[in-house]
Amino acid sequence: MTTPTTPGPVPPSVELDLGGRTALVTGAAGGIGRACALRLVAAGAKVRAVDRDGAGLDALAAQGAGLAGSIEPLVLDLTDLEAAEQAATGTDILVNNAGLQLVRPIEEFPPEVFHTVLTVMLEAPFRLIRGSLPHMYGQGWGRIVNISSVHGLRASAYKSAYVAAKHGLEGLSKTAALEGAQHGVTSNCVSPGYVRTPLVERQIADQAAAHGIPEERVLTEVLLKDSALKRLVEPSEVAEAVAYLCAPQASFITGTSLALDGGWTAH
Ligand SMILES: NC(=O)c1ccc[n+]([C@@H]2O[C@H](COP(=O)([O-])OP(=O)(O)OC[C@H]3O[C@@H](n4cnc5c(N)ncnc54)[C@H](O)[C@@H]3O)[C@@H](O)[C@H]2O)c1
Repeated sequence: MTTPTTPGPVPPSVELDLGGRTALVTGAAGGIGRACALRLVAAGAKVRAVDRDGAGLDALAAQGAGLAGSIEPLVLDLTDLEAAEQAATGTDILVNNAGLQLVRPIEEFPPEVFHTVLTVMLEAPFRLIRGSLPHMYGQGWGRIVNISSVHGLRASAYKSAYVAAKHGLEGLSKTAALEGAQHGVTSNCVSPGYVRTPLVERQIADQAAAHGIPEERVLTEVLLKDSALKRLVEPSEVAEAVAYLCAPQASFITGTSLALDGGWTAH
């Protein structure tokens, strides 16, 4: 196997004018969320950037200055479900992206972490959708994009909470699609394989311990084992898929999961 390489950030390919639209992106201080926020701002949206990481949001706001739209940072821990639902009021586009990972066998998995993962990655998206729907339904247009994962479609050992949350998110997204269709609201998942972000970098050591192999073998022998394309996905590639789902050309796409998984789920 050759060393995995990445193409680097991809330029925008989808023509998109989101002038006058408000988008909320959760986890916007991090890898994929940041790329999504910047992509939507570049398209002219006013982006409410939600994260618990205030410094990361400040960096995002600096990076987004000068683009067509604007960034409104909101420091919020999404385990505060009431605040999450409130924050979604008036949103035209909702990108449920915030997430966290812990790699442990089930018998060693701390129940309180399982609870937090499900709260942030499944219950908060439910509350954010709930908070955004009245405005979307009222105007007859809305876009919900849930950043799921190949782990919303397939399981891997030692990721019980993450896999459970992502499978739940896929179901929630489909239900929102069915309910929203008559109101002009689409709901879809974007489901990447491994993306080049801090979340992946942080789990290399855990994966090495769980599988009993050195860290340098984790990428090829664990993370990319089932991917036909042997490289990480770029955050900008994920952001471009999100942009496409917000474009007029995608208005008939709802209730689906767009896998950016290098062929993983073709197995
Ligand atoms: N990186 C990957 O390989 C990969 C693959 C498939 C799916 N995803 C999904 O993409 C999403 C983003 O992942 P990423 O790789 O960019 O991760 P990341 O760790 O780089 O960013 C996640 C962001 O979520 C924020 N966050 C976490 N818990 C929060 C909370 N309680 N309240 C508010 N914000 C919180 C973090 O502060 C961080 O900014 C996640 O849902 C993840 O499951 C990632």
